[in-house]
Amino acid sequence: MPEACAKYPSLNGKTVFVTGGATGIGAALVRAFVAQGCAVGFLDCDQAAGEALVSELVAQGALVRFEHVDVTQVASLRAAIRQCADTLGDITVLVNNVGNDQRFDPRQITPDQWRASMAVNLDPAFFAAQTVYPMMAKRGGGSIVNLSSINALFGPPQMPSYNTAKAALLGLTKSLAQDFGRDRIRVNAVLPGWVITERQLDQWLTPEIEAQWMRQVMLPERLLPDDVARMVLFLAAEDSRLITSQNFIIDGGRL
Ligand SMILES: NC(=O)c1ccc[n+]([C@@H]2O[C@H](COP(=O)([O-])OP(=O)(O)OC[C@H]3O[C@@H](n4cnc5c(N)ncnc54)[C@H](O)[C@@H]3O)[C@@H](O)[C@H]2O)c1
Repeated sequence: MPEACAKYPSLNGKTVFVTGGATGIGAALVRAFVAQGCAVGFLDCDQAAGEALVSELVAQGALVRFEHVDVTQVASLRAAIRQCADTLGDITVLVNNVGNDQRFDPRQITPDQWRASMAVNLDPAFFAAQTVYPMMAKRGGGSIVNLSSINALFGPPQMPSYNTAKAALLGLTKSLAQDFGRDRIRVNAVLPGWVITERQLDQWLTPEIEAQWMRQVMLPERLLPDDVARMVLFLAAEDSRLITSQNFIIDGGRL
């Protein structure tokens, strides 16, 4: 995170949990919360990347814990969250970041592929929120941030299940904000545009696609994981204490 990033005193000492935290935006989130003085638990199916990130942060004196979990296994997801809470303290900030933007032709996607996409892009957000709810309620409140996508609002091609799951996260955000509000638990969604992670560089970024993106945005600069992390920090901190049930677009003016 650049030096100029805001410091949020209300985050210092908080316990945060990030799903899919080993690489990409998730890893930027883990680092950003550590830099705010938080204890951070995270899970990922990428064991090597998760362990490498923990080693790096522990060497800096951070309080972090990694759980090697496939989020499509709800019992394992719940167990990982509870393990982290047992070690690091009750979780009062949850970032539902895990996702998989696999492409499918809507004419050919099978029922198993559709369910698998929901199992990684939608279901873990609900079950993670359900799992942290009692901890947040006991602690007098908390903040849940769901990583949706601008895809939810404009549906780019060949991503029917991903786009649908990301739109469903907006409904989930509103629903949980309503039901958990009396416990002072805030729930918001963040909708990034195209964020240039290592995986995007490896799999999708070509000079042509990037040039097209730059023509479509008002601010023609690469969106980076830290740009998303800055918004998530604000939504996790008390500075946003009366903000709930909202969608925040970070896309350089694409929409
Ligand atoms: N990068 C973008 O352009 C972009 C744009 C809009 C929204 N988003 C959303 O932001 C979030 C993070 O994006 P990203 O680009 O860093 O994603 P990514 O696909 O690069 O990383 C997601 C992380 O989740 C992990 N993961 C995937 N499947 C898993 C599973 N079954 N169990 C456990 N872990 C699993 C991966 O190993 C990875 O570390 C996602 O929800 C994504 O949909 C990303």
